[in-house]
Amino acid sequence: MTVKTLLETWAASNRHFDALLAGRYSGHGEPQERLFQAMDYSLLAGGKRLRPFLVYQFCAACGGEEADADPAALAIELIHTYSLIHDDLPAMDNDDYRRGRLTNHKVYGEAMAILAGDGLLTDAFAVLGSAGLAGDRVAACVRVLAENAGPWGMVGGQVLDILSEERKLTEREVLDIQTRKTGGLIRAACEMGVICAGGTPEQRSAARHYADGVGLAFQIRDDVLDVIGDAQKLGKAVGVDAEKNTFVRLYGLEACEKRIEAETKAACKALQSFPNAGILAELAFFLAKRDR
Ligand code: IPE
Ligand code: IPE
Ligand code: MG
Ligand code: MG
Ligand code: MG
Repeated sequence: MTVKTLLETWAASNRHFDALLAGRYSGHGEPQERLFQAMDYSLLAGGKRLRPFLVYQFCAACGGEEADADPAALAIELIHTYSLIHDDLPAMDNDDYRRGRLTNHKVYGEAMAILAGDGLLTDAFAVLGSAGLAGDRVAACVRVLAENAGPWGMVGGQVLDILSEERKLTEREVLDIQTRKTGGLIRAACEMGVICAGGTPEQRSAARHYADGVGLAFQIRDDVLDVIGDAQKLGKAVGVDAEKNTFVRLYGLEACEKRIEAETKAACKALQSFPNAGILAELAFFLAKRDR
């Protein structure tokens, strides 16, 4: 497996995924067209589509078809995009740029940005609920997604992240926040991929282990890029986390590199439960060094 093959596979996956998204919300003359425009504004602005790619790749690694993974891929990206819209609000990180354009509230106003997030969040479960998979697989996906995105997962992590600005945290606390706020959705993506393909309980557990390593490495890299990254490439402002208890602020860049490497290696070990997961290993190493 080479980086070139990884990037070509990822790009093809994104073309398939973006075709699913096109025309889903705005442009149908609905009375709430303004809401649909606000949802599409953030959803169609691009982004790496990492979480859908993880769903597709874990589904493939367990022998599933691309179409089996479509609803979960869509649902996870809807939730991720909602989390970004809300994360950027003045009451939270108060950011002006996201995915290379002005943030949602800067264009549509705070009320519409909140509602666009609410709309994406809620529709994610409508998408999953209408998936043409066996009922037990749909139910398992709904549960995994809600648990990892909700108060025990991403939402919980966001709360701890905000509260943490008031004091210096221990390493354990920082890692707990990162595992929830970013690890949550990455974990849901990986595990849902296995579920969509009817993978074994051992494969579900292995997918979670991979996600724990990749998710932590991904957020530490995000914090590193806030210091050394390029705003143009990232599509969002850098240098905005100075007040935050990020891993990089607490322990420095070198410790981050080491931790990212260790988490990436641990993630790849978990892939032994899959007969053919070369792409997922290549992806983990690529993400460890990503610049966007
Ligand atoms: C940004 O996620 C928020 C974090 C969890 C660090 P991504 O870096 O995946 O953002 P997009 O989807 O590519 O815009
Ligand atoms: C947010 O982490 C993760 C989410 C749950 C949205 P950050 O606040 O560090 O994400 P960015 O840097 O704004 O993308
Ligand atoms: Mg934040
Ligand atoms: Mg933020
Ligand atoms: Mg960040």
